[in-house]
Amino acid sequence: MTEQIFPLNAWYAAAYDVEVGRSLLARKICNKPIVMYRKTTGEAVALADACWHRLVPLSGGELNGDNVICPYHGLEFDDSGRCVYMPSQETINPSACVKSYPVVEKHRFVWIWPGDPALADPAKVPDMHWINDPEWAADGKRIHVKCDYRLVVDNLMDLTHETFVHGSSIGNRAVAEAPFQTTHTDRTATVTRWMIDIDAPPFWAGQLGRKEHVDRWQIIHFQAPSTICIEVGVAPTGTGAPQGDRSKGVEGMVLNTMTPETDKTCHYFWAFARHYDIHNQARTHQLREGVSTVFREDEAVLEAQQKAIDDNPDHVFYNLNIDAGSMWARKLIQQMIADEQPLRIAAE
Ligand code: FES
Ligand SMILES: [Fe+2]
Repeated sequence: MTEQIFPLNAWYAAAYDVEVGRSLLARKICNKPIVMYRKTTGEAVALADACWHRLVPLSGGELNGDNVICPYHGLEFDDSGRCVYMPSQETINPSACVKSYPVVEKHRFVWIWPGDPALADPAKVPDMHWINDPEWAADGKRIHVKCDYRLVVDNLMDLTHETFVHGSSIGNRAVAEAPFQTTHTDRTATVTRWMIDIDAPPFWAGQLGRKEHVDRWQIIHFQAPSTICIEVGVAPTGTGAPQGDRSKGVEGMVLNTMTPETDKTCHYFWAFARHYDIHNQARTHQLREGVSTVFREDEAVLEAQQKAIDDNPDHVFYNLNIDAGSMWARKLIQQMIADEQPLRIAAE
């Protein structure tokens, strides 16, 4: 058995809400081919994308009301995955069904639970509420990254890399040099970094609209297994941000959730939310495109890293101080995987 690298008993973002509609959307989640669509009521549905009859992907078929018709021999499945029509056959084999996955729509995402449906508690959907909070303005994208989703987790848990990967926008020397603190619970890890009285890097000087010394913060909140929300921002030095008053500065949230596609590829959903100038649509658009450029720099590094890992399967990684956050994240992921092993064995 190959090593399991993600828990199945977890909610994973499968799509942005706007991606799912009245046509069939195929997407692989945790190595499982899934087809998604909306019923006539608007409710999202997720079924296994493989026909019960001969495994042909249902996503190549079409909708008939709330049902899906297989493109090969026309078997029809309802939104619970049960076969409701077979050509030239009056009685329908009761075992004729495809798996249906629990779905929740929240924070502008369609979330899917690939594991045991009995454990799918909607209250466990990761908190990304800033994405549609009326006090914030947010927009984002989905990126397909050719790497193990945990490499994206590592990348976001240690922002030292901003200095080197994102030097022209959000990085400068202060990020790599500032001390940080790491804390954790059994499901979360937090890395807090304050950079006091520094030059604002180009991106933040632009957001603040003036050049002066700032206090900058990055507070990284990891929710196992793969959601990371980062409080970011700058405020002019001496205006009280480290003491809790961020009102003189510009404050944002970088929202990220990664969904394994396969063991070596992932869907990376992100959004940038801001708490200033929120009604300026042009700025929302500009920020989405700007952050997108920054994330393309990460994508290039991560895909190169995955290739190198594949070329050196026996390489042992050593951890530095800067890896403390990602070490905690990986420990919590590992714990979730270990916790579901007895359930998996019982189910097999
Ligand atoms: S493969 Fe779907 S109906 Fe035959
Ligand atoms: Fe980055």
